[in-house]
Amino acid sequence: MSVGNINDRVPSGVGGLDKIIGGGFPRGSLIVLAGNPGTGKTILSACFLYHGAVNYGERGIYVSFAESRKSFFGNMLSLGLDFEVLEREGRFRFLDMLTVREEAVQNVLEAILKEVSEVEAKRLVIDSFSALAQAFRETHEARIILHTILSRITRLLGCTTILITEIPRGENKIGLSAEEFVADGIILLGRTRLEGRLLRELELFKMRGTPVYETQAVFTLKDGFKVFPPFKSKPIEKPCRFQPQPDTEEYFSTGSPDLDKMLEGGYPRGSTVLIEIDEHITKLQYHLITAPTAYNFIVQGRGVILIPSRGVDHNLVKRRAEEGGITRNEVDRLLRICIKDYPGFKPEPCLVAFKGENLKEDYLKYIEVEQKLVESTGQPVLHITGVDTMIDMYGVREVLSALRAYATRVMEAGGLSIILLKPGYPKLAKILGALADVHLKITREHGAVLVYGIKPRTNLHVLEMDVSRGYPMPKLTQII
Ligand SMILES: Nc1ncnc2c1ncn2[C@@H]1O[C@H](COP(=O)(O)OP(=O)(O)OP(=O)(O)O)[C@@H](O)[C@H]1O
Ligand SMILES: [Mg+2]
Repeated sequence: MSVGNINDRVPSGVGGLDKIIGGGFPRGSLIVLAGNPGTGKTILSACFLYHGAVNYGERGIYVSFAESRKSFFGNMLSLGLDFEVLEREGRFRFLDMLTVREEAVQNVLEAILKEVSEVEAKRLVIDSFSALAQAFRETHEARIILHTILSRITRLLGCTTILITEIPRGENKIGLSAEEFVADGIILLGRTRLEGRLLRELELFKMRGTPVYETQAVFTLKDGFKVFPPFKSKPIEKPCRFQPQPDTEEYFSTGSPDLDKMLEGGYPRGSTVLIEIDEHITKLQYHLITAPTAYNFIVQGRGVILIPSRGVDHNLVKRRAEEGGITRNEVDRLLRICIKDYPGFKPEPCLVAFKGENLKEDYLKYIEVEQKLVESTGQPVLHITGVDTMIDMYGVREVLSALRAYATRVMEAGGLSIILLKPGYPKLAKILGALADVHLKITREHGAVLVYGIKPRTNLHVLEMDVSRGYPMPKLTQII
């Protein structure tokens, strides 16, 4: 089926989808939407119709061979999509074809066509082609729809149409049947698991007139249907100072309301937190998770001691502090960045130079720095430790025993220790995982950054950058 002007796009009404399909569906196109049961086909289609009517003034029709009117209206209302109101206002119609089996193909087709032209619908959903095909004795009978009626609906009436195709459970491919050849676009919805946690993914097989750069994307059904294009950093337009997040008696806030919520409170006081970071994760991405905790300590007049991970130098740390609106004076008073001594090193109040040869010697110096911060602030200290940097200097065994000793020390002092671990040390990951009170992982899938808890166990959450407050914050959306 060919589409008039390929550049004439209709916004899909599905959050994030337009970014990966070139701005929207080609107007008057036929889109095949395929997937196993429960993968979100009905919800995506409902968003297409609902937002099409509400935001773009396009009337829509849902032709259902699969789901009853009551169940459709009820389920969608639970997602905040009130189709009854739309129907009352004449912007939506639900065609119940559940009992159509006895009727002739021609009648069904004509009923749909009549409805589309009568209502002047610009969006149509047929749920599903599979159910429709089953309703007729001969499959080729149902296929007539594609070549006659559907082409008239889409091309002549300019009505963009989603044709749902059910893929039986257990199968994960779409068969190469007729509807897929005539389609202008094919979207496959799927669900899989990542460390036992639900991961939803969408695959774009084709979208006529659109160079498809990203063929796969992560999505969630939280509050409707939201697709996550690859992670994007955002510039901070109006820089502001970090707003402190309140701690509780039991927990330190992570500095991020979203992360606090994911962890059901925050980081327990006196705890050791292990954050495992995948090799695909950039500094900016994991700093979104760690920086707010440091901001939250500093703006409350507490000390932070940092051993930066490999690839992070003290200038980057200072820049991050600036992004959180931390003043130069606060950096000098409250932040301590541990670095390896080098020829020509220029001392600064916030820098602590280590020899990096003998851990015992350096450890004593570290404790001294910590003591001074505790004395000057009268408050617990936050430790952020890049394990890779330490291993480079002292070797795995030494580092492990130091971290063990440190976990006890932090627990007794009621402070907080965040350990950052990069890949390459699987054994260490296991040992530190057992030692830690909180264990988070950060990884990437189809360009989206995923954060999840091993301890406490959480669902996968997609990480985005939120700059709406004037400083970088993590935005976490659960995948359900
Ligand atoms: N209010 C809601 N909030 C979040 N998720 C929901 C909500 N209601 C249903 N779901 C989830 O949505 C999924 C079903 O979505 P949907 O009905 O769109 O799937 P489908 O692909 O059309 O399935 P089927 O092939 O059975 O028709 C279920 O897995 C369910 O867990
Ligand atoms: Mg459905």
